Amino acid sequence: MSLKDAATAVRKNAHAPYSNFKVGAAVRAASGAVYVGCNVENVAYPEGTCAEAGAIAAMVAAGETALTEAFVIADCPSPIPPCGGCRQKLAEFAAGDVVVTLATTDGTELETTIADLLPGAFGAAHMDRT
Ligand code: THU
Repeated sequence: MSLKDAATAVRKNAHAPYSNFKVGAAVRAASGAVYVGCNVENVAYPEGTCAEAGAIAAMVAAGETALTEAFVIADCPSPIPPCGGCRQKLAEFAAGDVVVTLATTDGTELETTIADLLPGAFGAAHMDRT
């Protein structure tokens, strides 16, 4: 299954009763396996957890710590921009040149990269003074 199909399918499972905004995400890990996530909101913290965070959590729970491709889809007027926290989470597990496709359910797609999504990213090297 393509990342697009996987993200489109999992989006239907999103639990978004507060925002009514369903998001689906799929990442391909270094092994080739695909992991998916949808946003999951709750009454105490209505922003809940993002679809991207869910896909990454599934990947890490399966024992993988590198992703080579990502796809995010939502029903918006223009391709869904990942939130700041998700940009940092994606950058934690992907090289700067990894392609992230942002999509609308209408079929508009925007291909970008981890580096373009998070320019000037904080990384482990910034803590290295030795
Ligand atoms: N959301 C995501 O799942 N991913 C994004 O990149 C942006 C926002 C979710 C979080 C919340 O459930 C809803 O969209 C509205 O913010």
